[in-house]
Amino acid sequence: MSDKSYVIDQMISAKSIAARIEELAVEIEQEFSDTDKLIVVGLLRGSFVFIADLVREINLPIEVDFLEVSSYGDGMESSREVRILKDLRGTIENRDVLIVEDIVDTGHTMKNVTQHILRRQPARMKTIALLDKPSRREVEIKTDFLGFEIPDEFVVGYGIDFAQRNRNLPFIGKVRFT
Ligand code: IMP
Ligand code: MG
Repeated sequence: MSDKSYVIDQMISAKSIAARIEELAVEIEQEFSDTDKLIVVGLLRGSFVFIADLVREINLPIEVDFLEVSSYGDGMESSREVRILKDLRGTIENRDVLIVEDIVDTGHTMKNVTQHILRRQPARMKTIALLDKPSRREVEIKTDFLGFEIPDEFVVGYGIDFAQRNRNLPFIGKVRFT
């Protein structure tokens, strides 16, 4: 796939993302205003830019941890099996957890990750995704906070890759094969 040539058309500008993150941070601050034990958990690698911008807008005492699961290989097909490649460093039992994901697509990743987190008995668990492609959903999952709903397009940028490339684009763009 990745050896085919493609262009990237901008879908969501860096400015729009920044504005939306400010709004999301307000929602998150309201949700977690009563706690000083919030751990923000980023799903590697796709959420690394999003979580970096998001936590800097959240005016609460927080900790940051990361979880890496396998989902897509180097192509565009979702594998339904999700494996834990890198687990959390800290304990989350009786803590409040906010899971930060780049995109919810079929929903398998988020479903598996939330089950994994819930087994460790956090006091409260919420989820946030920058993007959601609801038309692609295969399993029912809840996303408590969402940046943008998008159509069924393969997107890159702002941390999100196609065959490991394009994570460094400051905006979200859609891949168009030429
Ligand atoms: P799901 O398990 O099908 O919901 O897939 C979620 C994961 O697939 C996300 O964390 C992304 O890493 C990846 N993914 C889904 N859609 C896209 C896309 O359009 N571009 C790049 N990666 C994607
Ligand atoms: Mg991902």
